[in-house]
Amino acid sequence: MHPLIQRAAHLLALVGVLAAAPVHAHETLKLDAPKPNIAPTPPMGWNSWNKFACNVSEKLIREQADAMAASGMKDAGYRYIVIDDCWQKSRDADGNIQADPERFPSGIKALADYVHGKGLKFGLYSDAGSLTCGGRPGSAGHEFQDARQYAKWGVDYLKYDWCNTGTRNAEAAYTIMAKALRESGRDIVLSICEWGTDHPERWGPTVGHLWRTTGDIYDAWEGQKDWSSGMTNILDMQVERSAHASPNAWNDPDMLEVGNGGMTTTEYESHFSLWAMLAAPLIAGNDLSRMDADTLRILTNKDVIAVDQDPLGKQGTRKQKEGDLEIWVRPLQGGEFAAVLFNRGKTPADMKLKWDRLGLPEDRKADVKDLWSKKVTKGVHGSYGGKVAPHGVLMVRVTPTP
Ligand code: GLA
Repeated sequence: MHPLIQRAAHLLALVGVLAAAPVHAHETLKLDAPKPNIAPTPPMGWNSWNKFACNVSEKLIREQADAMAASGMKDAGYRYIVIDDCWQKSRDADGNIQADPERFPSGIKALADYVHGKGLKFGLYSDAGSLTCGGRPGSAGHEFQDARQYAKWGVDYLKYDWCNTGTRNAEAAYTIMAKALRESGRDIVLSICEWGTDHPERWGPTVGHLWRTTGDIYDAWEGQKDWSSGMTNILDMQVERSAHASPNAWNDPDMLEVGNGGMTTTEYESHFSLWAMLAAPLIAGNDLSRMDADTLRILTNKDVIAVDQDPLGKQGTRKQKEGDLEIWVRPLQGGEFAAVLFNRGKTPADMKLKWDRLGLPEDRKADVKDLWSKKVTKGVHGSYGGKVAPHGVLMVRVTPTP
């Protein structure tokens, strides 16, 4: 073969290979700095959006940090204080992002220092588009400049939203911010808020630490309002997603509504239990400075939090559904299991978890702890169950004994 024809044939073969293999944006954009391992278990914290929306200020953030540290939330494992949309107002002549000077007169650095002074971590919000969802300046075209600024301010966590992105490709846009953060000189959690639109489960694990799977949650047992869904609607959208989660890479079914007033105490217990089964980031969305006893009791249930934070990092799945009655199971480290018997119906139900749902032989003995009543039953075999309140759960930890 003439050498030129040979060269052309080689090139064509190469083009064929390239066309056949899917090329990910993070490969072509050389996301070569490793993703920092800063979310080995799902992040825990607080975010301003669910309760306060655009009504954020340094006074509010300080109060929430004070409350997180003093209430027992910090002791229970909550760490991040994240300001969502509307902290930012404009860019200066050099393109540097500016906080709203009226609401944050002392500036973001001073606020981050305050939060750090409480032994907590500090997070901010931006958007991959020209404007955020709330109409503030987004990071498109400013990714590296913004990431450097966040690092200088002491930001530990970035929630990065997807409004006003036009025809941008999601994977590419998030990869650019991931690269900017990794080159910023500071370890920063990247919370991808792309609403599950363009299969974030395919590229999210390489690019970020968590990725939203749906539109927004709102504080209701069930329902649909434009872009937002009630708690059980969001839950139903998680059913097929468990395989994609692993340590440092989590599905995010959106933030908690516990304590915001739209659900009953029983429903909030269910919400919190199910989010723990999903290995969801536990980001409280209520006013931490005005929590009633039930809200604090739910958010700081250490047994339920231990399920969420289990180091094996395997997300739970729905193993059984008979009408309104569901059984969710999550394998835990060391051969233990968490299970939730969930009654979505309007009347109390007798429910039973059979050992075969756990993959255990019927005669295998186990100790069972009810994670809400704290009752421990030893030497159980075959099955475990009880009465489950309407809209309630029975949540247990099953520890097989040798
Ligand atoms: C989107 C996000 C929300 C919140 C708002 C802020 O709707 O999904 O979680 O950040 O934007 O404007």
